[in-house]
Amino acid sequence: MIYSRVIGTGSYLPEKILTNQDLEQMVDTSDEWIRSRTGIAQRHIAADNEMASDMALNASREAMKAASVSAEEIDLIIVATTTPDVIFPSTACILQDKLGVKDCPAFDVQAVCSGFVYALATADMFIRAGKYRTALVVGTEVYSRILDWSDRSTCVLFGDGAGAVVLSRSDRPGIISSHLHADGSYKNILTAPGNVCGGKVQGTPFVMMEGNTVFKFAVKVLEEVVHEALAENNLKASDIDWLIPHQANIRIIISTAKKLGIPMEKVVATLEKHGNTSAASIPLALDTAVRDGRIKSGQHVLMEGVGGGFTWGAVLVCW
Ligand code: ACO
Repeated sequence: MIYSRVIGTGSYLPEKILTNQDLEQMVDTSDEWIRSRTGIAQRHIAADNEMASDMALNASREAMKAASVSAEEIDLIIVATTTPDVIFPSTACILQDKLGVKDCPAFDVQAVCSGFVYALATADMFIRAGKYRTALVVGTEVYSRILDWSDRSTCVLFGDGAGAVVLSRSDRPGIISSHLHADGSYKNILTAPGNVCGGKVQGTPFVMMEGNTVFKFAVKVLEEVVHEALAENNLKASDIDWLIPHQANIRIIISTAKKLGIPMEKVVATLEKHGNTSAASIPLALDTAVRDGRIKSGQHVLMEGVGGGFTWGAVLVCW
């Protein structure tokens, strides 16, 4: 059997930090409100000239170093992003050039906050099919550019950053299973409903959200998709060593873990330090837990994401 295994992780957060106290000076909010409603204390903001591909490059270099993989060995690049450098070419192609990787398929995946789970599942399929050997899978976002900084209901939630993994062909698992879902009928509850036409922005190019609806939907589908992953593999919730959820909101994370009966000691939560970084949030949390030694060889790691679309999914890994 051919499997894919994560052989290296990396992440990157921009230098500039925007704290809740900084936000108190910008909109009518408070550190207490943001912490108690979301669990976020600060977020990182990309420099003016820093693009999604630049952050992806930093995270990718770290992941490739951890995996001891050179640019010549990468034969597939998938980037999950909702905030690409430009309309086209894809951020994956720009990253390919910056890394000096020659002639391999490179493309973006757009599944908003589920993007990394979608990208990882896609890369796994290509590797399992025997087509490619060493894939670079990245989540990178500059949400600071699509936030209305006068809208307190959204601007306090998000931040910028990137995370990456190197996935390699192996004869032992690896990624055990992946589970992807979407329901476009929920397209309006979380959206940035703008586009470019004739050189002008049409519609609203900022994040808009029905917070309460998103909250309820997220908790419901995250619980469902974890049960789906467990059932397919004849596992119990207690068999999961680490749950790596999308880092949107600590209350969503706690509610989901509670419903699943997974103690918070087994949940990796990093959002306090970087807020919701959309497609970058899962690989950022993953890299943290790999580097601080929490995730160990042979453990079951379950990543789960949910985001605009609506999209959601999970990837179960034997580390
Ligand atoms: N500071 C202070 N007050 C605020 C702020 C703020 N930043 N934002 C909203 N409020 C006010 C509202 O105006 C409202 O005031 P009112 O009662 O006078 O009308 C009050 O706080 C309560 O507003 P709600 O929206 O009901 O607050 P809620 O407790 O639902 O929390 C939140 C809002 C945090 C967005 C919540 O709905 C939530 O967690 N939703 C999940 C969405 C989420 O996390 N999205 C991230 C992206 S989605 C994803 O990644 C899947």
